[in-house]
Amino acid sequence: MAAVLDRPKADPAFREDVLAGLSAPIPAVPARWLYDRRGSELFEEITRLPEYYPTRTETALLERISGELGDLLDPGQAVVEFGSGSSAKTPVLLRAVAPAAYIPIDISGDFLRDSAEALARLCPNLAIHPVEADFMRRLDLPAAVAQMPKLGFFPGSTIGNLVARTAVDLLREMKETLGEGSRLVIGMDRIKDVDVLLRAYDDAAGVTAAFNLNLLHRINAELDGTIPVDAFRHRAIWNDALSRIEMHLEALRDLAFTVDGRNFAFKAGETIHTENSHKYGYRDSRILLRAAGWGVTREWTDDKQWFSILLAEAEPPRFAP
Ligand code: TRP
Repeated sequence: MAAVLDRPKADPAFREDVLAGLSAPIPAVPARWLYDRRGSELFEEITRLPEYYPTRTETALLERISGELGDLLDPGQAVVEFGSGSSAKTPVLLRAVAPAAYIPIDISGDFLRDSAEALARLCPNLAIHPVEADFMRRLDLPAAVAQMPKLGFFPGSTIGNLVARTAVDLLREMKETLGEGSRLVIGMDRIKDVDVLLRAYDDAAGVTAAFNLNLLHRINAELDGTIPVDAFRHRAIWNDALSRIEMHLEALRDLAFTVDGRNFAFKAGETIHTENSHKYGYRDSRILLRAAGWGVTREWTDDKQWFSILLAEAEPPRFAP
């Protein structure tokens, strides 16, 4: 009994997702469970890897276009960032658009508070209203910003971690949250050379592998699991038909284990699917946004055309055609 009480308290939703996911015909665990404290630290490390081009490319692009963004957007807006995390790119945007308020939204309360405090020191005159929430759910913005025009900020190609159907649901939800006349600055990773993509999601130092495998350690620690973590390996695959990198954990031999008293068996070569990262072409990104009621007004890309930042405007409701 003592051992059970000593275990870190598991989130019941984590338990449900893992048990259902491991028993599914195609075993899969929702990617948000990758981001416990250790996972969030490993992800920060990923963003600094030489092979991981998205963070570096997007940040440099944002710096390059910040003057233009400032010209296109009126000052005095409320900037709403979806999934702010450590908010590394935020100061670049805030300097460019001189907003009246900043609303970072993140599911991880710890991370949210730390980065809001750091930002407050950097921008002492900015009103910051952090919201601890899952941005995948409908949410209300603080009353203090109700009258301000809104600018959504969704960098990091996080939209690419969702399948198209869910991505459109989220973009439509964002439009509801931000309201009529609002705008959105969104980062999207582009389709490119497969070797470049594969290296970005399977780095030489093995940080991405450790990040993915950390999920199994977390299951063992929080859900009383007996998964032989060494008998799994990280795999990144390019799925060309679906235009996405897939992250899997592959069983290296036939194996069996228990989680929370339930039995699971994997054959050598079978995988647990943990994440997708969709890559978009020029027209793909536009149709995705348009499907959710956002019209693209500007797009910027780096010299290699590896990453895009798009400025979109909420389209008014239309009757026809
Ligand atoms: N939004 C990031 C991306 O798609 C998330 C990410 C990067 C990621 N590397 C990962 C998710 C490795 C899971 C595993 O690029």
